[in-house]
Amino acid sequence: IDIKTLRGVTDGVVTIDPGYKNTGSCESAITFLDGENGILRYRGYSIEELAEKANFLEVAYLLIFGELPTTSQLEKFHNDIKAQSHVDEDVKRILDGFPKSAHPMGVLSSLTSALIAFNPSSVNVESEEDMYKAIVKILGKFPVLVGWTLRKKTGQPLDYGDDNLGYVENILKMMFKKPNSEYKQNPTLVDALDKLLILHADHEQNCSTSTVRIVGSSHAGLFASLSAGINALWGPLHGGANQAVLEMLEAIKEDGGDTKKYMGKAKDKLDPFRLMGFGHRVYKNFDPRAKIIKKSADEVLGDLGVEDPILDIAKGLEKEALEDSYFVDRKLYPNVDFYSGIIYRAMNIPTEMFTVMFALGRLPGWIAQWKEMRENKEPIGRPRQIYTGETHRPFKPVSER
Ligand code: ACO
Repeated sequence: IDIKTLRGVTDGVVTIDPGYKNTGSCESAITFLDGENGILRYRGYSIEELAEKANFLEVAYLLIFGELPTTSQLEKFHNDIKAQSHVDEDVKRILDGFPKSAHPMGVLSSLTSALIAFNPSSVNVESEEDMYKAIVKILGKFPVLVGWTLRKKTGQPLDYGDDNLGYVENILKMMFKKPNSEYKQNPTLVDALDKLLILHADHEQNCSTSTVRIVGSSHAGLFASLSAGINALWGPLHGGANQAVLEMLEAIKEDGGDTKKYMGKAKDKLDPFRLMGFGHRVYKNFDPRAKIIKKSADEVLGDLGVEDPILDIAKGLEKEALEDSYFVDRKLYPNVDFYSGIIYRAMNIPTEMFTVMFALGRLPGWIAQWKEMRENKEPIGRPRQIYTGETHRPFKPVSER
């Protein structure tokens, strides 16, 4: 028997590509990304134009259905979502069972999974109509879960949405309205959150989106696939970076604010420390989303009159990295998460909630990618491997080992 047979390689050539740096997993008509030139387009529309001129719900429609909606299409879509924005009271009891210290991403993914039990019809989507129903259901219920997750963290009583508000306004209300007081919308915050959600709405085959597609490829259902995507997003090398950025900035502040010391740590190959919020797998010149959000961050901070030593540290790091040959040579620029955390902090969102906000933005992208995968009738995702373990060994009873 030759070594290949022993190792289980029986049919053809297996390509090894750790991290899938060069492996395409699917054909997709949703998002175009040119990392060398810093271009990001959803369904052919540039991210700059969408962030400037569209709102998040329009972008969600565009990603999911392929075209920008007409006024009546958008209205119907929003009404269908609003009709699904109630979450079963029993889900609250599950929420109550979590300790206050639970990480909001764990709470969100668990509640998203729990929704399956209360909406069993969302699992088997055999027709276009079934698919549409599952989509508007999750677009209605997910912001409620996000609001509840925040309130669990801050110990505030739960708030229900208001159907008279826009989709993003309603999210802000569910997150921030204080009991027995009127909630006044701040247009700058609504605009900033709308932009942030648009910028995060899709990013082709990243870690969490690939997870959603691969879990969905087993026909596990939309909510189960999304719950898996939330868990994939949680990690600090992916969506968790926005939380990690703020924690890093806070640690630098606590340590006396010496940014040079941390630049040195990031460059030291023996030190595992990385400058969080810098670098990107695909953007090797600049992250176009970072450019847009940097402007938005300046507006929010100006409008709210925020003066924050953390921001001075962020600006210092950004300046030093852009002038440092280690970062320049490796094309490590601030990514979208470097700035999003700064805005969320100014909005008074707890640091541990930052990745939840990312998930909220990414929801339409995950849905669009799942829908495309199902419509294209993609086969179950099942990568191969090169086996490097032991060859065949005889079994020894425990008494002889
Ligand atoms: N700080 C210091 N050095 C870095 C950093 C960083 N943030 N990022 C990459 N490098 C270095 C690596 O050490 C490596 O150096 P070497 O060539 O001398 O060995 C080189 O740059 C290339 O790094 P890779 O890890 O191979 O790049 P990859 O494309 O695999 O990783 C990633 C991209 C994960 C984003 C990485 O840059 C990183 O860890 N950044 C910090 C975490 C972060 O901000 N993540 C958010 C990503 S954006 C998002 O998910 C929305």
